[in-house]
Amino acid sequence: MPYERYGTELVDPAPLGRPLELYPSGRRVLNRFMKSSMAESLATWDPKVPHLRGVPTDESIELYRRWGEGGWGLILTGNMDISFDSMDDLGDMIITTDCPMSGPRFEKFQELAKAAKAHGSLIIGQLSHPGRQVQARLNPEAISASDVQLEPKMGMSFGKPHPASKAEIDEIVEGFAYAAEYLDKAGFDGIELHAAHGYIIAQFLSPRTNKRTDEYGTQTVENRLRFITDIARAIRKRVSPSFVVGAKLNSVEFQDAGVTPKEAEEVCGGLEQEGFDFVELSGGNYENFGMKWEKDSTQKREAYFLKWAKVVSESLPADSKLKMFLVGGIRTVDAMLEILKTIDGVSFARPAAAEPDLPTKVLSGKVTGTIKPVEGNDDIGGKFAVDLGMAKTQLRLTARGYQTIDFSDEEVMAHFKKDIDVWWDNLVADGDKLEYIRAPEYTGPVVLAK
Ligand SMILES: Cc1cc2nc3c(=O)[nH]c(=O)nc-3n(C[C@H](O)[C@H](O)[C@H](O)COP(=O)(O)O)c2cc1C
Repeated sequence: MPYERYGTELVDPAPLGRPLELYPSGRRVLNRFMKSSMAESLATWDPKVPHLRGVPTDESIELYRRWGEGGWGLILTGNMDISFDSMDDLGDMIITTDCPMSGPRFEKFQELAKAAKAHGSLIIGQLSHPGRQVQARLNPEAISASDVQLEPKMGMSFGKPHPASKAEIDEIVEGFAYAAEYLDKAGFDGIELHAAHGYIIAQFLSPRTNKRTDEYGTQTVENRLRFITDIARAIRKRVSPSFVVGAKLNSVEFQDAGVTPKEAEEVCGGLEQEGFDFVELSGGNYENFGMKWEKDSTQKREAYFLKWAKVVSESLPADSKLKMFLVGGIRTVDAMLEILKTIDGVSFARPAAAEPDLPTKVLSGKVTGTIKPVEGNDDIGGKFAVDLGMAKTQLRLTARGYQTIDFSDEEVMAHFKKDIDVWWDNLVADGDKLEYIRAPEYTGPVVLAK
């Protein structure tokens, strides 16, 4: 049956349509929907010449234009890297301190911002540095809080990390601050620091990867916070007062010595004092994604990290102005409303790939939830390639002006599985050549968007 959805009952979605005031930026968000980050694999790429990488393409812009039409309060971009070779993934957008705030690259960022915010959404660039999670084929030398090696995972091996020197820390802080200023000047409404999922800021925040003994070290949360605090202060000095500054944060890491909700609480308190507008709570990292509905109770509650996010959000003082969003596994309108009782907003990645206009549909009151694919979509850790591939395929279709495909249809899924096998083989064959970077191509029937 086509377009099968999660949820069984139609409920009044009105609370999801309420605007939200951000502080200290003073910006107003249309409603409670956040489109979470998804690395698009659509920016320019050159295997050999680094400075030719990371420019938004016409396809990138078309994708954000479509999200801009979809009724999102906040639209977060995929990872934007601050280095040409320490990047999250091939085809990410990139801004380094060598990129001038004028000229062809800058103009593409301007175009993307304009397209995304044409209907009142706020467009927020997610700034990211992989640290020890850099793929070894991109850069065998990784930088991190300490020298804790990330073991091979998902067919990838990772650079050998060394502890960042003070000079390297300053350079990365400057990279984040420059990129924020660049985006401000290009018409973006704000940035989100990627401080979750094991990226470099999370490496400093987590006692598992931060073994330092200096002022950035493990002895106290305050010390582990210093890296993100330095970044936030450097950013605030360079952007306009109405520029939104947020962070994606793990509420929990499912590992020995990983971040606990208690520590996440302290981190949120610290971020509020530093003048962050919002925190998007997630969880897990490359070593343990934690993105699955493990127990019956979690399945009912849906959102993977709600339990921990509630603990963190309730720990903030009653007069706290820090806004909280929750991401991961939110699928029924019922659950979205339940979450709003304790958290300010709901954030979506895979459902936003499947339906660029998800908020408009939910707010119409005519749907019970997001589209329920035949498989995947509930367990990014277990079926990573399929799940990620499904979402990336949808992004690619939207970016090329097509309607997304219906993964709740068995025929579509069966066809796609053949395509993803071809994609995987090509990826493996590419090895270290770094030439094969785009998302899986769906070869079944597709329809042009109007
Ligand atoms: C294709 C794809 C790309 C992603 N890229 C990013 C990214 O660039 N930055 C990030 O913070 N999370 C990224 N994520 C994780 C999502 O933002 C989100 O945290 C996760 O998918 C859980 O939300 P969901 O259940 O609504 O999909 C990505 C997820 C997918 C499926």
